[in-house]
Parts: sequence; C-alpha cells; structure tokens
Amino acid sequence: MSRAPAFVCAECGAAHRKWAGRCDACGAWNSLAEDQGLSTAGPPGKSLGAAKGRPAALVPLAGDDAPPPRRPTGKAEFDRVLGGGLVEGSAVLVGGDPGIGKSTLLLQAAAGLAAAGAPVIYVSGEEATAQIRMRARRLGLDAAPVRLCAETNLRDILTMLDAERPALAVIDSIQTMWADSVDSAPGSVSQVRAAAHEITNFVKRRGGAAIMVGHVTKEGQIAGPRVVEHMVDTVLYFEGERGHQFRILRAVKNRFGPVDEIGVFEMTGAGLAEVPNPSALFLGEGGRRAAGAAVFAGVEGSRPLLCEIQALVATSTLGTPRRAVVGWDSGRLAMILAVLEARAGVSFAGLDIYLNIAGGLRVSEPAADLAVACALLSALHDAPLPQDAVIFGEIALSGAVRPVSQIEARLKEAEKLGFAAAWTPPSAALSGAGPGVRATPVEDLREFVLQVFGADHAG
Ligand code: TYD
Ligand code: MG
Repeated sequence: MSRAPAFVCAECGAAHRKWAGRCDACGAWNSLAEDQGLSTAGPPGKSLGAAKGRPAALVPLAGDDAPPPRRPTGKAEFDRVLGGGLVEGSAVLVGGDPGIGKSTLLLQAAAGLAAAGAPVIYVSGEEATAQIRMRARRLGLDAAPVRLCAETNLRDILTMLDAERPALAVIDSIQTMWADSVDSAPGSVSQVRAAAHEITNFVKRRGGAAIMVGHVTKEGQIAGPRVVEHMVDTVLYFEGERGHQFRILRAVKNRFGPVDEIGVFEMTGAGLAEVPNPSALFLGEGGRRAAGAAVFAGVEGSRPLLCEIQALVATSTLGTPRRAVVGWDSGRLAMILAVLEARAGVSFAGLDIYLNIAGGLRVSEPAADLAVACALLSALHDAPLPQDAVIFGEIALSGAVRPVSQIEARLKEAEKLGFAAAWTPPSAALSGAGPGVRATPVEDLREFVLQVFGADHAG
C-alpha cells in the first residue's frame, strides 16, 4: 500500500514525496509545505476491502431530471459566466489576485440576489463589518438586505449557516477560514482544503449555494485556489491588468454551464460596471490605427470579441533580441516568427519585438495567429493595415492558413462595429456571411505577404 505524500505544493496542489525548493508540477519556487491530515490515501496499513459495507445504490442512466433551479444575481455578466445564474446546491470558487475586485464583485452580486428577495449572508474573515459597510455605502448598496458576519471559525460559521439556511453564503476568503479539526495554520494547504471541503459538503447536504473567494498567491506562503479546484462545481477567475480598469471574469470549470465563457466589467469609482458590448471597449479610442496595429475578430466563450493587437519592432542593442509579450502566449509568438522566416522569408533577426493585446485582454485562441502575423509585418514595414479590416485565422507550421470556428459570428460582430472587410481563412462558411463585410480568404502566408507587403523576401 502506498504511503500518503508528505509534501504538497501550495500553488497547484501537486503531491511530493520529498521536499524540494521548486515544484516539479507547476514550477513555483518555495511552495512545498508539509501536508498534515487529509491525505488522498487512507491511513497506512488499513484496507477498505476487509470489512463489508452496505452496497451503494444504483440507478439507470436514463432519467428525467428537471434542470437544476437557478437564481439570477441581477448582474448579467456574472450570470452569463455562471451559465445563467447561481445553481441551487452549488459551490463556486472565485479566484484572483489580491486587490483585483473579488470582494467588490461578490458584494454586488450578493446585494443583487438579496434585493430579489433571497436571504444572503456575507461572511468575511478579512475585513471588519465596518469596512464592508463602508464599501457597501460607496457602491450605493447599503440598503440591500444582506447580512454580514465577521468570523473565521469554520465550525461557528457552519453552525450559523445551518440555523439560517441562506440562499447564498459568500465566504471571503477561503484562506482566512480556520477548521479546528485540522492542526495547521489558516491558509495552509490542509486548512484551505478542509474549509472548502466542509463548505462544499454543507451546500450539497443542506441546500443553498456558496461562493468562496480564493486569493491567488505568488509566494506560496498561503495555499492558492488551485488546491481546491477539484472539489467545487464551478471555478471562476477574475483577472485584469493592474493599470487598466477592465476586469474579466472567466469560467475555467463549470459543472452547470460552458467553460471559457467570459464576463466583462469596468472598475469605476462606484464599483464594477457591466460592459455589455466589450468589442467597442477593446478596440481602443478609435481614430486611425497606426502601423503595427491589427484588429483581431476573436471569440471568447459564446461571444465574438474584437480586439486590437499591437506590435512594435525596433533595432536591438542586445545579443539576444527582446521578445516581450503581454496578453498572448510567447511560445506561440516564437512559432509565428519561425513560420514567417521559414515559409515567407521574413526575418526579424536583430530586432526587438513587443506584442500587446490592447485593454489588458488575454487571448488564447490560435485564431489570432494571422492577426499577430499581420501586426508584426505591418510594424516591420511601417505600413498601417487597412483601417476597415478585421483579421483572423490559424497559421500552420507549413505556412498554410487554417479555418477556425464561428466564422459567421466573427464577421457579424465586425459588421456590427462598422468594419467592411475581413482577411479570413479559406472556408465554405464565408458564403453564408452577410453582405456587410467583404471577406478575402488567405490560403498561404507566403503568397499573402507578397501580395500585401510587396517585396518578395524569399526572393
Ligand atoms: P476588492 O474588491 O477589495 O479586491 P479583492 O477583494 O479582490 O482583494 O477591490 C479592491 C480595489 O478596488 C481597491 O484597490 C479599490 C478598488 N475599488 C474601486 O476602484 N471602486 C470601488 O467602488 C471599490 C469598492 C473598490
Ligand atoms: Mg477582498
């Protein structure tokens, strides 16, 4: 029988037999801590096979269950990410960097639910009730019938919830909760796991829903939200760049809805405002787009989203030129550069490259390849791209441009925002596009570079 692992990474939850300075699984430094209790394996030497239990119940696969009841929070962007509202009996984890706006978002959602008549309790282990009241006043929500509880003792909190049976309990944050059954400090991997487990169990048994806040940590001093992701039904991450007012709520796991759905918010002086039409926001100030800027027609979750991809190319003074990327994958940039060089003869050797997705958005779709390539080429040639065109398409290592999903939705969004042209992959779906946008299929990168940027680099 295998022994329980002795060390656990506070960032990703990976188990290790021996202590090490760096976690093999996620690469975090100094994040391994001894695991006390709650190991995945049972106690050593004792096998479950020996004693007989009651046989577990079996049911047929076919069945006619009603969809789980949902409660809208009144924040449409939040409800969209949840899959249409908060599901009864579900446990939700909202992760994000400290200061990104998790408490603000959840207080607003809590107030929305409470205003609709649902009993809501906001448990804070981080702030005193006076601080939460002050935030509520600032948000104009001080009249909402939300009840507050400043407490960190999990046993006392569960006892209170059991008596009150709220429709929603917000737990802010999971890292401040303290379960007396576990013998380690609040915020440790075992405490965070125990607390999340207890709370999840509670809503499964007693009904209602729980939203837990989990701080993402860089130092590994306290356990990050990833160590409890597997326990909860839904995992949402709240992200955004510090200097930008835009915030994106992203579903990374959802037993009750689609993943990769996003909700877009703007942090204002009076809390988080919903952004129902994010394309306009990520396209920047309008005006003329400079050389190096390309408009990518992307899809985030179920929603098309246009954003500007900006590239800057400058002579490098370094032996190894700089490749700085914000909002996109740097490995993917390296691949595009290699394809441009090998297939189209365009070299960026000796040049620093800066690539940025405007507005603090993070794009992970391969469909952005062609827009990134266009931004790079436009920057290199110091030639602005057509002002009225959107671009999308995946680039293969062969230099071929590959079709992507949801072409019609992308073109429709472009039309809606006043674009008249599109550079797209070759696809049968183009014929179904509306008359508003003139689509030009791009089949091969080399031919395309020749046509659009003139000089035959490969020549
Ligand atoms: P908060 O919700 O406390 O973040 P978290 O719970 O994720 O740590 O938000 C913190 C930041 O948000 C803080 O720097 C101030 C800013 N803020 C606003 O800009 N407007 C507001 O109305 C509120 C309540 C906060
Ligand atoms: Mg907070």
